[in-house]
Amino acid sequence: MTRKILMHVGPETIDYEVLLAGVRGDVGFTSKEFTDVMRYSLSFLRKLTNAPSYQAFIIPGGGTSAMESISSLIKKGENILVVSNGVFGDRWEKIFSRYPVNLKTLRAKAGYYIKPEEVLDEVKKSKINVVTLTHVETSTGVREPIQSVIKEIRDYVDLVVVDGVSSIGAEEVRAEDWKADVYLTASQKAIGAPPGAGLLVVSNKALERLSSESISSFYLDLRNWLPVMKAFDEGKSAYFSTLPVHLIFMLAKAFELMDKEGIENRIGRHEKISSAIRAGIEGMGLDIVAKNPEAYSNTVTGVMLNKVNPSDVLTRMVSEGIELAPGVHPDLAGKYFRIGHMGWTNENDVISTISALERVLKVLGEPIRFGEGVKAVQETLSS
Ligand SMILES: Cc1ncc(COP(=O)(O)O)c(C=O)c1O
Repeated sequence: MTRKILMHVGPETIDYEVLLAGVRGDVGFTSKEFTDVMRYSLSFLRKLTNAPSYQAFIIPGGGTSAMESISSLIKKGENILVVSNGVFGDRWEKIFSRYPVNLKTLRAKAGYYIKPEEVLDEVKKSKINVVTLTHVETSTGVREPIQSVIKEIRDYVDLVVVDGVSSIGAEEVRAEDWKADVYLTASQKAIGAPPGAGLLVVSNKALERLSSESISSFYLDLRNWLPVMKAFDEGKSAYFSTLPVHLIFMLAKAFELMDKEGIENRIGRHEKISSAIRAGIEGMGLDIVAKNPEAYSNTVTGVMLNKVNPSDVLTRMVSEGIELAPGVHPDLAGKYFRIGHMGWTNENDVISTISALERVLKVLGEPIRFGEGVKAVQETLSS
């Protein structure tokens, strides 16, 4: 049997208990079993994002369907500011450029983030209705200081929407205290369930914006999903369009496992694992894509190469039993790859990853300090 360690950016390693939770041949979408897991999952999502009074949504799709559903909170002609630190920040621009709204984008250079004061300067210039932020930019591993940005801009804008796809479940998220109106994610990231669902928590103030005048399409109009989610919250079933029933059984099991670990413990584990990965990379003499240490994320590390081709590194790593993620930022094409460290990644996975990487880079001819990466990981993990 060939075993593989998945150090990717989603889907992550999925616990067998989670997979088995979806192996059911006889559950209808109105069954008590399904109603119970929906109720539990909506309630745990609020707990995970620290949003006790917000409405939780679980909709089909993933991060992108959750993002596009925000169109149901927006009216024609409104002004949207996209704060983009990379490919997934840019996705907001790609989505909204299809709608009749006015768009402005603040775009950071690869490896950097837009500072809170830059966002403030922009929202002070003219009326902005909606600001979109990305907590962790998966294309570079850069973390935006969400709490500070919202603190600066809250009084100037109507709606603050945060993409937490690479943060929820691995980084501190306090949607309500920080006054974010929406925090969203997908089932396959730090939550550790299979892909297929978009998850959101939405403030009551934001829900007041739902209207027949929104620019939304039909399927992702949260007006259609709201009564369904409210019904499940009350322990009743409801239908607008079929939910991914079996996936939601798996999601509920993943939430149960997260609760067992404890949300704070889970964030602490991600912090430790990510600092060990970075120690290993820097120990062997390579640079990290994120340029400011305060912007290092708990979930993704981009690794710059000086000489060898990243796709050769990834291919060789797979033959060593470890799957990493390619670089996707167009400005750094051919110069970097990514290590995902979210979900159930553990200390031994870090050691295996860094030691295999040292061997692969040495064989391919990348100049590194051979052995120093593993040493730095060991020191970090034992300190
Ligand atoms: C930060 C971020 N936002 C949005 C998405 C899109 O999610 P999905 O691929 O589930 O549509 C991703 C996917 O990796 C992401 O990393």
